[in-house]
Amino acid sequence: MRIDIITALPDLLKSPFETSILKKSIDLKLIDLHIHNLRDFTKDNYKTIDDNQFGGGAGMVMMIEPIDKCINKLKTERHYDEVIYMSPDGENLNQKISNKISLLNNIIILCGHYKGVDQRVRDHLITKEISIGDYVLTGGELAAAVLCDSIIRLIPGVLSNETSALTDSFQDNLLAPPIYTRPRDYNGWKVPDVLLSGDFPKIEKWREEKAIEATLNKRPNIKD
Ligand code: ADE
Repeated sequence: MRIDIITALPDLLKSPFETSILKKSIDLKLIDLHIHNLRDFTKDNYKTIDDNQFGGGAGMVMMIEPIDKCINKLKTERHYDEVIYMSPDGENLNQKISNKISLLNNIIILCGHYKGVDQRVRDHLITKEISIGDYVLTGGELAAAVLCDSIIRLIPGVLSNETSALTDSFQDNLLAPPIYTRPRDYNGWKVPDVLLSGDFPKIEKWREEKAIEATLNKRPNIKD
């Protein structure tokens, strides 16, 4: 999968992709990541990417021209399945959306800043708008990193069998059951006997029951 991220702050996106599983996905060539600095697509010496809003009002608006130039250049090189804009007023990210995006070949992710982008970017260049929650961040970069993390870990080969994404919370609309490791008894806080029984059908049944119980207690409204 190829991911092109367009940002005014490329440095903010470096470390998530230079560490752990996201780094591994790039090293293994399962992910082809390209980060583009929007300021490389400006004409003027000051590398301006934003301006005042027409009609007045506080806050700067990201201009359409550098964004259009960058997206157009990429589109002349290959077909993109989605051009995603990270925005607090986009569709709320969930596991189902991440699953779908993880099956695509090429995507562009645009990170917003300031008040946001000129509406014509959203009307003519963007195919999907995604929010990572009902709160406002200073820019779309951290949101883009969250989106990338959630999709990259689903790409076959990125996670090992033991950490397979299939048993994650939210797959099958269920939260994951409780998990334990050594010691069996920590200051009197004991691991449930069933997990130590070696009776695997019984353990499977217990995990299913606990997953349902956790979902009903914590997130009864999970839907697909
Ligand atoms: N940019 C700023 N806030 C955001 C959010 N909550 N989700 C996605 N992009 C954002």
